[in-house]
Amino acid sequence: MNSSPWWKEATIYQIYPRSFFDSNGDGEGDLPGITSKLDYVKSLGVDAIWLSPFYTSPNKDGGYDVANPRDVDPRFGNLEDARELITQAHKRDLRVIADIVPNHFSDQHKWFQAALKAKRGSKERERFHFYDANEDGTPPNNWISLFGGPSWTQVEDGQFYLHLFDSTQPDLNWENPEVNADFEKTLRFWIDLGVDGFRIDVAHGLIKEDVLTNHPDPQGLSNALRLDVAMDSDKRNALLLTVPYFDRQGVHEIYRKWRKLFDSYTGREIMAVAEAWVHPPVNATRYVRADELHQVFNFDLLTAEFDSDVLFDVVERSISLNATVNALPTWALSNHDSPRVASRIGDEQARALALFVFGLPGSAYVFAGQELGLPDGQLQDSDRQDPTFFRTNGAIKGRDGARVPLPWGGDTKPFGFSTAKPWLPISQSWKDFTIENELADPKSSLHLYKNALELRKEFLVGAGGITWLESSQHGHKSDSLLSYSRGAITVVMNLSDSAKECDAEGKLLIVSGGTVDARDGKKVIPARSTAWFLT
Ligand code: NOJ
Repeated sequence: MNSSPWWKEATIYQIYPRSFFDSNGDGEGDLPGITSKLDYVKSLGVDAIWLSPFYTSPNKDGGYDVANPRDVDPRFGNLEDARELITQAHKRDLRVIADIVPNHFSDQHKWFQAALKAKRGSKERERFHFYDANEDGTPPNNWISLFGGPSWTQVEDGQFYLHLFDSTQPDLNWENPEVNADFEKTLRFWIDLGVDGFRIDVAHGLIKEDVLTNHPDPQGLSNALRLDVAMDSDKRNALLLTVPYFDRQGVHEIYRKWRKLFDSYTGREIMAVAEAWVHPPVNATRYVRADELHQVFNFDLLTAEFDSDVLFDVVERSISLNATVNALPTWALSNHDSPRVASRIGDEQARALALFVFGLPGSAYVFAGQELGLPDGQLQDSDRQDPTFFRTNGAIKGRDGARVPLPWGGDTKPFGFSTAKPWLPISQSWKDFTIENELADPKSSLHLYKNALELRKEFLVGAGGITWLESSQHGHKSDSLLSYSRGAITVVMNLSDSAKECDAEGKLLIVSGGTVDARDGKKVIPARSTAWFLT
């Protein structure tokens, strides 16, 4: 079955370029490295790649600190390499999604360097959020950076600039028309070079309100925004309604303009997906109204427990909320910002959840290495590079564990990733997870992903909505079955630690782990496993 437009139910493979494959022996992945592995990517059965930033950057935040958004950082190659990567991807019928970072630039961007040299009130400073100190010398407000520490840094003449993230990532002032004009130039630049879409970083953050007002509970808000801090959900939800710098009305005007720009490329089907952490969940749907963006990430599965009530709610809510604006959901179990799913919920559970999700309507995102069942890399503090680790004096370990380079093959680390020492160490315990090894093992996670994505294309893409068969709403206990039918397929996930019988009919197509038995006319689904049946 086909889906039109291409992105609608695409499976999109996220590549973190620094960690994918090193072609020039400097210990870091690069664009030619990705190009050289496109046959592998294609063999997974995905439709597109999303490339995390590869632009000129001092790399203080893994490239999300962009010093020149219209050039390639030498560590990754050059513009010719980018063009070649896009050309080779297209030859294999793979689309390419670039990551655009509009909330902030690097402090090394020429605009910020000019702002530092210019006077207070100058047009150079108006591109960012520069304000005078309070009378007592304190910063203009008490906001806390998402990476910890104050959101403000003082410059030589006493003014402060705002940075929601690291101090090397000054926030742009989107009230200034020059900023939008520059980003439209960047969008066009990459579309003209051949990219098929954009992942928009911090899409909900561009417009700030009440910049000169203190938040009543900045520490509470900072904790509420962090996925790794446990908090009573009512308290968290109440705090999340008070964020003055996220999800302001004005961001939608920006995306309406961008949508017109995308649509002006007739015949190209340029898409954009928003990274928007918003609350309440219904607000996410505003980003995918007909005249705005095409997809918005649903991040719930990055933190959801392996529990049928929880997963039922996540899936049901996402499908039904998106339906109100005629959009389809997105599903992501891992990304470069969160613990890998196999480490978070367990290896068998991660396989079961992936197979469950691949049956659902919408787009599935797969973070490179997820197909191997990779766990998080085990790192020493001395290996860490994530600014969150440094800005919290080590209190938060940060996101490096999910960014350890991929193991390609061979028996010894770094398993073919590079001929040099990799930028983050790969543990010898990853020997069994190499692509080479998993390709040779028909029971590997890699084969499960390949088989599932092939079946998804054959039977499910374009097959319409789901009908729940077993769920919390059908009287089942939270630890057992979750099941739906879609088109000709019935998907059954057994979340419990023992085999469970179910009524699913039809021929077994695939199972994420173990063996499906038949007993008294019923199917027996193994513990922590998902199966698809063709009726
Ligand atoms: C979200 C990106 O995914 C993350 O890696 C980055 O640190 C922040 N945005 C800031 O750009």
